[in-house]
Amino acid sequence: MTTNIPGYTYGSTSLQKSPVSIDDFAKLKQASLFGDDDVRYLKMSHDVLKDQVEQILDVWYGFVGSTPFLLHYFTNAADGQPNMDYLGGVRKRFGQWILDTANAEYNQDWLNYQYEIGLRHHSSKKNTTDNVKSVPIIHIHYIFALLIPITTTLRPFLEKGGHSRDDVDRMQDAWRKSVLMQVILWSQPYIKSGEF
Ligand code: HEM
Repeated sequence: MTTNIPGYTYGSTSLQKSPVSIDDFAKLKQASLFGDDDVRYLKMSHDVLKDQVEQILDVWYGFVGSTPFLLHYFTNAADGQPNMDYLGGVRKRFGQWILDTANAEYNQDWLNYQYEIGLRHHSSKKNTTDNVKSVPIIHIHYIFALLIPITTTLRPFLEKGGHSRDDVDRMQDAWRKSVLMQVILWSQPYIKSGEF
């Protein structure tokens, strides 16, 4: 994956190896009823969403920006004010994440980057990528909760591709499962050793 997005290190050899193996992930897919059809529908969504990324981000950022207890995680620790450079830097990587999620290519690089994204939400690495002095950790309960607004507000964008209602349902379902599996993977650094 080559992009010019600052801090986006998908595929980099400097990433730590995911503690979750390809085999473990296969079982997670099975437990989540995530199958080949879901991959197909995610890829269908890629074509629909690829030219709408900025508008989707406007909606998601609108939600976080208007919800003070969420915006809190983008504020400066010193003065409690939102850090616009931080918000802007993360936004670019978030846009790429939309495309990566829809690409649905699951391999060791993808797993390693999932681990990295978990570390970046956790105190292990939050703030380091953008070199900011913000609050130290994103509390995990909100990470799980955001699955709902993210996949609910995606629907109008999925509908713009001209696909049948059934296809839109299936694309949205595949997104829900994919984001669920990702937030499960991201929770790894938050969980006591041996309990994930
Ligand atoms: C970073 C997605 C939950 C705040 C990111 C990134 C993505 C992402 C894709 C950039 C990763 C990268 O560096 O490449 C998501 C998704 C969530 C979620 C899909 C839930 C389903 C949350 C919540 C908050 C939050 C609840 C709290 C407001 C942040 C912050 C960063 C970040 C502050 C930057 C972390 C850093 O310092 O590197 N998120 N996120 N996220 N997210 Fe989330």
